[in-house]
Amino acid sequence: MICRSVYYRNFRNIAEQKIEFSPETNLILGPNAQGKTNALEGMYLCAQGRSHRTIHEREFIKFGEVFAEVGLTYQDAQRDNQLAIRYKGGRKGCQKNGVTLRKMSEFIGNFRAVLFTPEHLSIVKEGPALRRNFMDSALSQLSAGYVSSLQIYNRALIQRNKLLLSAQKGEVSNIEPLAEVWSLQLAKEGAYLSAQREAYINTLDEIVKMVFADMTGGREIPSVTYGGRKEEAEFQALLTANLDREIRAGTTLYGIHKDDLNLTINEKEARSFASQGQQRSLALAMKLAEGELSKKETGEYPVFLLDDILSELDATRKAYILSGIRGRQVILTACEDLSASLPGSCNIIRCEDGKYQSNL
Ligand SMILES: Nc1ncnc2c1ncn2[C@@H]1O[C@H](COP(=O)(O)OP(=O)(O)OP(=O)(O)O)[C@@H](O)[C@H]1O
Ligand SMILES: [Mg+2]
Repeated sequence: MICRSVYYRNFRNIAEQKIEFSPETNLILGPNAQGKTNALEGMYLCAQGRSHRTIHEREFIKFGEVFAEVGLTYQDAQRDNQLAIRYKGGRKGCQKNGVTLRKMSEFIGNFRAVLFTPEHLSIVKEGPALRRNFMDSALSQLSAGYVSSLQIYNRALIQRNKLLLSAQKGEVSNIEPLAEVWSLQLAKEGAYLSAQREAYINTLDEIVKMVFADMTGGREIPSVTYGGRKEEAEFQALLTANLDREIRAGTTLYGIHKDDLNLTINEKEARSFASQGQQRSLALAMKLAEGELSKKETGEYPVFLLDDILSELDATRKAYILSGIRGRQVILTACEDLSASLPGSCNIIRCEDGKYQSNL
């Protein structure tokens, strides 16, 4: 998959810009706070329908303006396509090839991208939310069913949590039948989502092992496992049996929103026992594996968006990631001109104060 160009209107600090990309390596180059991450964030919105930085979509709108829009032209195995996403007055609208899409599940996964930011390097040692997010982002781009199911799950979760909180404050009595309505939905979607997560992680694990062995010379064996798979009846039983506890907590304590991944190196928990270098190698292997798996499922490599990653890595890991993404389209950002160390021809895009000058 190739991103040919992207345009922005009133997005973050970008008033109106179009950037053209080469099908190989593209380096968005500029000092701090000029709009490098903003540019990638906008592209990622077209892949994921949401930002990796914020859940507050009004932040996208340039200060003093009333709407924000990002659109891109990409080429898949068949043809050139256009996507656009627009935010105005607390609502967002999406289009593909000029046709308005009613559901986010129709939008996400058309343009596929793997985003890699310095935050992803902490995926091993940070809390479980980052690892859940890893699964959700990757799976959402591969399955429209996953996107819809997750939406239903999250809506039901919000409703159930509201109810539990009201019960905790004594505002509702006889909560059981009301909670049951949401529990049924959580159990049904939870069973589906946990099965999807399990299948994804099982395949990812195989690829992570290969990539990691390749990167580190094969002395250590990592593993990525997911232990959260449950059947509908099991989720339901948990929710029913623990209702009193959940009322006291004022929130839903069981379900896939509490999932985590188990990451080990040589069978020891990587979070506690691996060195910082090993943790980074594992994070890198997971991101490269995400790209490989996307290729395996769809037949095409996704576009790699690397935000300020190379400056964070030592020479060996840097060389590894650069060889790992050779021959694919990469759009990366940096404050310094590292084009000489990049493989193939490099399109340099100079970024200054929300303006982008490509040398294409
Ligand atoms: N809604 C907005 N309207 C106008 N400007 C914004 C908005 N949101 C963010 N900005 C500005 O965008 C600027 C650039 O942000 P960005 O994160 O893209 O910088 P960067 O080039 O990636 O910098 P760094 O190298 O430090 O990562 C910031 O100065 C920020 O104040
Ligand atoms: Mg940045």
